[in-house]
Amino acid sequence: MDKLIIEGGHPLRGEVNISGAKNSAVAILPAALLAGAPCTIKNLPDIKDVANIIDILKQLGAEVNKESHDKVIINSNTINTYKVDFELSKKLRASYYFIGALLGRFKKAEVPFPGGCDIGVRPIDQHIKGFEALGAKVIIEHGIIRAEADELVGAPIFLDVVSVGATINIMLAACMAKGTTIIENAAKEPYIVDTANFLNALGANIKGAGTDEIKIKGVETLGGCEHTIIPDQMEAGTYMIAAAASKGDIIVKNIIPTHLDSISAKMREMGVNIIENGDSLRVIANTRPKAVNIKTLPYPGFPTDLQQPMSVLLSISDGTAIINESIYDGRFKHVDELKKMGAKISVEGRIAIVEGVPKLLGAPVCATDLRAGAAMVVAGLSAEGETVISNITHIERGYENFENKLIKLGAKVKRINEED
Ligand code: EPZ
Repeated sequence: MDKLIIEGGHPLRGEVNISGAKNSAVAILPAALLAGAPCTIKNLPDIKDVANIIDILKQLGAEVNKESHDKVIINSNTINTYKVDFELSKKLRASYYFIGALLGRFKKAEVPFPGGCDIGVRPIDQHIKGFEALGAKVIIEHGIIRAEADELVGAPIFLDVVSVGATINIMLAACMAKGTTIIENAAKEPYIVDTANFLNALGANIKGAGTDEIKIKGVETLGGCEHTIIPDQMEAGTYMIAAAASKGDIIVKNIIPTHLDSISAKMREMGVNIIENGDSLRVIANTRPKAVNIKTLPYPGFPTDLQQPMSVLLSISDGTAIINESIYDGRFKHVDELKKMGAKISVEGRIAIVEGVPKLLGAPVCATDLRAGAAMVVAGLSAEGETVISNITHIERGYENFENKLIKLGAKVKRINEED
């Protein structure tokens, strides 16, 4: 297992190009199973989660040709099974999208329970509620989710919880159902709009993605298309926070600024200067950030995926901050690691009280999950001295070329092999 060694105290300066959105890519690649003709998907991030999804597509029999580092052509007409491999499925959370995609195309799906970050309870009851509303029979046995239907018929579905995964999974299953499906209390994340745009490019009839009511009129068949994945707002937000934590001055390129409104607003409240300019924005931070309170919410609220990196900036802010992690009940595992660096944070359930300290001190720490790992990198960049981060395989799941992008920004980062 590799480690990252970071020498702190070097302000980030320069430009960083944002890659395609992980959480769009891991939904749109399974969605390509619904296509009756080849699909070209561009701006894919070169990360482990995308590689694992592509492995599952190939295991199912689809032809996947990598045209370049960020472009694939998928032919799903060669698929020869509706059963996803156990070992592949548990590598990430997004494996569950193969239930909706296989059900939508073949009326049958057998998918082992997904894996993913250990950030608290992550049920899939709303996904199952949606599939059953469409007429599927879903049983769970031996850790496998089995779904099948004689036919799928459109239905109204009110989600009890605003769920990104359930919203997308129901869209996948409903695309070729008979009649109209209405998803109410739907999630509004940009990934949902991106996936709906992809499906509509195939010939689906989806309206309202990005609002809390999505209408899907079932169609007979779907064709192929060419689609470009949207930029990753969580990668962009991580670099914005890293720039502020290192008192740097960077330009974040290839973004959609409106996707970052909640992060920009919060950072401006902290005294960070953010200047938007078309498909890029500049982050200038030359003073100690002011403490602000954060409550994570579904989009367009402050995203839970940036709570952990933001907690680093709050830990060196001037004042005391309250973090309310309203989405997950176990997304503070990075706090113990931050405490090793001198952070003063106390956690009670879904609430963390952060008492700002003037600086963090480098230390050996561990990445406990994807965004916790990103938080450790942000902490190492801002800390005095050297930070060694182990378990960085978590980070590689969601950040393309992280250390090289940081080195280009002037960070002193190097990767070593555990044995060294
Ligand atoms: C997606 O996970 C993202 N992952 C997560 O990003 C992100 O944190 C999350 O959405 C929230 O924005 C992918 O897109 C692959 P949810 P998902 O269903 O779909 C509860 C990252 O760091 N819930 O929106 O699994 C659930 O427990 C990852 O990139 C149910 O109760 O999240 C949670 O409290 C981490 N029943 C809340 O809803 C269900 O059936 C939101 O979960 C489904 C969810």
